[in-house]
Amino acid sequence: MFGKGVASGSVVALLAILWFWRHSTETTFGDPAEVREQIEEAFLKSWRDYSLHGFGFDVYKPSARTYHNMARSGDPLGWIIVDSLDTMFMMYNSSTTHRSELLKGILESQTWIDNQLTYDIDAEVNIFETTIRMIGGLLSAYYWSTLLTVGNPNIYLNKAVDLADRLSLAFSQTKSGIPYSSINLRTGQAIKNHVDDGASSTAEFTTLQLEFKYLSYVTGNKSYWQLAEQVYSPLYSVNPLLGPMDGLVPIYTDPDSGRFMGKNVRLGSRGDSFYEYLLKQYLLTHEKLYYDLYRASVEGVKRHLVALSQPNNLVYIGEKPWGLRGPLDSKMDHLVCFMGGLLAMGATEGLPISKARKADFWDTTRESDWQLAQDLTYTCYKMYEQSPSGLAPEIVVFNDGAVIPQKSWVSPQGDFYVKPNDRHNLQRPETVESIMFLYHLTKDKKYRQWGYEIWRSFDKHTRSSRGKAYSSLQDCMRVPTKLLDNLESFWLAETLKYLHLLFQDNVDLTKAVFNTEAHAFPVFNTTILRELDLKTGWAP
Ligand SMILES: *[C@@H]1O[C@H](CO)[C@@H](O)[C@H](O)[C@H]1NC(C)=O
Ligand SMILES: *[C@@H]1O[C@H](CO)[C@@H](O)[C@H](O)[C@H]1NC(C)=O
Ligand SMILES: *[C@@H]1O[C@H](CO)[C@@H](O)[C@H](O)[C@H]1NC(C)=O
Repeated sequence: MFGKGVASGSVVALLAILWFWRHSTETTFGDPAEVREQIEEAFLKSWRDYSLHGFGFDVYKPSARTYHNMARSGDPLGWIIVDSLDTMFMMYNSSTTHRSELLKGILESQTWIDNQLTYDIDAEVNIFETTIRMIGGLLSAYYWSTLLTVGNPNIYLNKAVDLADRLSLAFSQTKSGIPYSSINLRTGQAIKNHVDDGASSTAEFTTLQLEFKYLSYVTGNKSYWQLAEQVYSPLYSVNPLLGPMDGLVPIYTDPDSGRFMGKNVRLGSRGDSFYEYLLKQYLLTHEKLYYDLYRASVEGVKRHLVALSQPNNLVYIGEKPWGLRGPLDSKMDHLVCFMGGLLAMGATEGLPISKARKADFWDTTRESDWQLAQDLTYTCYKMYEQSPSGLAPEIVVFNDGAVIPQKSWVSPQGDFYVKPNDRHNLQRPETVESIMFLYHLTKDKKYRQWGYEIWRSFDKHTRSSRGKAYSSLQDCMRVPTKLLDNLESFWLAETLKYLHLLFQDNVDLTKAVFNTEAHAFPVFNTTILRELDLKTGWAP
């Protein structure tokens, strides 16, 4: 009996050790520096593959190894190279093992930008995407290049100015000062949206301000600042935004009048970064007005859009497709997962939570924002943790008690489901972005743990067909996953950057602000702002 007990006890112990070993090697991280190296290696895998087989092209498919440019004229816009640059600078600065390869990548990119990239091309570009990715990427590269004295910062700045001057022409082609959604870089002709009755997406023209204001700050030319801020005046005066609309914006706006079109309110696509840039302007430029506008919007979000799932009370942000008085649709885009990090930064202004709670600005409203930030980030983590691949789909619908459509995938704990058309995963950043912010504001290791699990799932399930690079997925709701065969530039610009930052120590979130494409700009010095006479030029 004694002997038998020992035998079965040791079998159990052995099984436990085996389980723990397997489980721990897969999902528990050890040394943060080692995780950073893994993430650098992943970045370099994608980068090496791209530079060998598609360098200079805007669109690249890592499995087929085919590529093309987006502009009708066939000219490149620098989409992948410019978006990737500041991630290379950042990794270069903190890496121990990959410095020389990252430096090589930076200098090759710089040479390409200097010699191959011209904006004097017959290309019709989306003003928003070009601003956040290209002007944002160039200005952040300018910042890093200056800071680390690596490369030639003027190459980046001059390109950014050239591009911004071309985009600037769009602001004077409507009476309202709200630009149409696209512009021809050579002719300067702004072009109304071809679909949606010519509407501009509300989040598009309200997501240019960090980039244009930073450009004014570094060049001393006030025009960029003024052009970018003038879009708010019609928006807040033509629409009762601070009245019955509770700070919440429909996703379409008529650019000629500034009037909202339709009633669809959501924090997913076409709505998201309107809210993001209100807060981030305040954090970057210290303009109090934008904190107040952000505050009004967050109150609206809490009043109209926040809800709890069944049965486990996951906190989510739903949509109001028929206006604020209509029913809440429990659908949530993965894009909405940026809100955890944003609310956390709005509450703390980048200070660690223990310090923020002692600051003069702290009050019950901020405490409530902070709680919501943590709850939403947890929900977004669950969107990964519950999925078969460990990766979240593009859209989930939370269980609000209504009938679940057939053919949906239902999460094991029953809180959300995924419709057949929403099973893709584009390697988006928003969840790891929020996790990164919450980690540095709390130093709570659970956030690194969540981020690590997500990182392992990306590494395991988003490899391109030869396994030498990574690709977005057509279906992440099954294993093996199904590839889309595309290298999204935000995989390099954002997702891997935020993951890397999560495992860095001493990240001070009061010093820099990330634009909506994860390009970082330094918080403005108020003395310099005064010297340049850069200040808020409108009131709602
Ligand atoms: C660059 O790396 C050094 C050393 O790790 C670090 O102290 C510094 O904060 C980093 N710079 C930036 C801008 O992250
Ligand atoms: C300032 O920027 C505006 C807007 O792009 C441009 O038209 C103007 O030429 C610039 N002024 C100077 C002095 O560079
Ligand atoms: C802001 O800029 C002024 C003028 O250049 C400089 O003297 C001051 O040290 C700067 N302040 C900070 C906090 O960097």
